[in-house]
Amino acid sequence: VRTRVAIVGAGPAGLLLSHLLADAGIESVVVDQRTREQIESTIRAGILEQGTVEVLDSLGEHSRARTVGHRHDGIEMRFAGEGHRIDFPSLVGRSVWLYPQHEVLKDLIAARLAGGQDLRFGITVNGIEDAGTERPRVIATDADGQPLVIEADFVVGADGSRSVARPVVTGSAFGGYFREYPFAWFGILTEAPPSADELIYSNSPDGFALISQRSATVQRMYFQCDPDADTAAYSEAQLWEELQKRVPGTTLKEGPIFQRDVLRFRSFVAHELRKGRVAIVGDAAHTVPPTGAKGMNLAVADVILLNLALQALLLEGDERRIDDFADAARRRIWKAQHFSWWMTSMLHVTADATDFDRMRQLGELRSIVESEAGQTYLAEAYTGWPLATA
Ligand code: DHB
Repeated sequence: VRTRVAIVGAGPAGLLLSHLLADAGIESVVVDQRTREQIESTIRAGILEQGTVEVLDSLGEHSRARTVGHRHDGIEMRFAGEGHRIDFPSLVGRSVWLYPQHEVLKDLIAARLAGGQDLRFGITVNGIEDAGTERPRVIATDADGQPLVIEADFVVGADGSRSVARPVVTGSAFGGYFREYPFAWFGILTEAPPSADELIYSNSPDGFALISQRSATVQRMYFQCDPDADTAAYSEAQLWEELQKRVPGTTLKEGPIFQRDVLRFRSFVAHELRKGRVAIVGDAAHTVPPTGAKGMNLAVADVILLNLALQALLLEGDERRIDDFADAARRRIWKAQHFSWWMTSMLHVTADATDFDRMRQLGELRSIVESEAGQTYLAEAYTGWPLATA
């Protein structure tokens, strides 16, 4: 197969890139190891920055973010038994949307298939060759076990945290800046009405909890747990007890719990984001801990930059933007890394925290919620920094 851009990974990054390239008249092939059903049903994050929603508007009717999703104008920061609302529009004139990632993926897949995109599922990529030439190639095996070679002008690795493209770009599977955290999130989905109108990020002596939502009848909630926690080890009553004791002052509306998962916390940025005519974006390039919901939004920001760079390269033969891509992407990546680390460290409780650490943390939270400057920083980062437009 011959195409202009070979995209490995049909997640938010890969699919959005294929859409933006197609809008500019650049043909691509998108491959993914998973099935369409797997991609459309895996539960991931739920918050879209305003800029992400605006980019998805370019899908036309296919984007349901504004119709099925919900605009949220604020969040509650809860600690010491009291809630403090951060009002986004009055602080920064922006909002976020609650719209689950797998719904974004359904929209993107529907739009790409309607646009005639060559989109292939069940493809295992074994390697990427000739990154240093103008004809890089993706070497793969299709769903029937037949060999597939995609020859392109450029290859993009949008293939997630276990990226096949990353070692091609960095020279090793783990070539990056890395940080681990001594905790994880226990996530649940429950069939219950919302417990609050907006998300609650709660710091308590028993640990962190996040009260999020999915719809009028389904809610998403998380509580801080041990990274090795066993999802089967808790009864439903124990899960509600864990959640409830971490949001003192709010009474949670309980219902049957129909999904449980443990989310590992990691911060990672690959040392290199491009080698010759291969680039990595999204989770292939970086991972953030989930607090603050930056993961998918950061993938979208990478793709916007890469799309502009590929248009310059492939339509005009101008290499300056692709040469600048990694530096430009890194400026936002490290701001998002800082924000995700900061929200995480400000809200979670570590086993080795001293009394001093605990009191300092409350001082940090107060210095945000009791200050317009503090609230404004949080609102600006949460709703998203401006995206590249040209
Ligand atoms: C959700 C996840 C997050 O990490 C976050 O900060 C907010 C919301 C969610 O899944 O709803």
